Amino acid sequence: MSWNATVLTLFPGMFPGPLGTSLAGRAMDRGLWSLEARDIREAATDRHRTVDDTPFGGGAGMVLRPDVVDAAIAAAVPEGDQRPLVFLTPRGVPLRQSLVRQLAAGPGVVALCGRYEGVDQRVVEARGMIEVSIGDYVLSGGELGAMVLLDACVRLIPGVMGAAESAEEESFSSNLLEYPHYTRPAEWRGLRVPEVLLSGHHAEVARWRRERSEAVTRERRPDLLTHSPNQDQGRAGAP
Ligand code: ADE
Repeated sequence: MSWNATVLTLFPGMFPGPLGTSLAGRAMDRGLWSLEARDIREAATDRHRTVDDTPFGGGAGMVLRPDVVDAAIAAAVPEGDQRPLVFLTPRGVPLRQSLVRQLAAGPGVVALCGRYEGVDQRVVEARGMIEVSIGDYVLSGGELGAMVLLDACVRLIPGVMGAAESAEEESFSSNLLEYPHYTRPAEWRGLRVPEVLLSGHHAEVARWRRERSEAVTRERRPDLLTHSPNQDQGRAGAP
């Protein structure tokens, strides 16, 4: 049984996009995961295929209608489907590796991409969506966010990464940013690789890397040091 992603979007032509290449694309070719992009507009019922309307209370932009979004979900997601429904929005909880790990360990994900000013909140709540943001900036829609989320999940699906791409020591696996990396040549433009890495002393290498990880985390992301590892995200009882 493979890991399955369904993306609901007004721009299905954006998919698979970059997810069809490199590690994720190879994994898709090997049948380790699948991706289906569905056009929300196909769920519109009027002649003009209307999906949005003006916001109650006034203001700029358009809001996706709850009836259309609900019908799009009903058409794309079979009854009894256990996959969590993720709505990509800058209002969401920040995406962290802990949620990525949870989603990757499950049956897959259904991702709803917003456009315009947003999605009517009633369907977000009625469908128990997990609202997720990929960062503190505003994209023109949730599609790139969905790609980020899926890329992060797919690489954790068993069999996707070989030993060469191991996820064990990378950033966020222990609430620390990763230590810096070096390869040949040992001297480049007069710059030497840190001597300890050439020493062959595994314990000293491990100590140096740990120390560099802690230093860069203190400097760039002190917030990570006050978080407990594997913090839960999303709705209570989420997988
Ligand atoms: N849609 C627009 N901006 C977004 C963000 N930062 N994260 C997720 N979805 C978005």
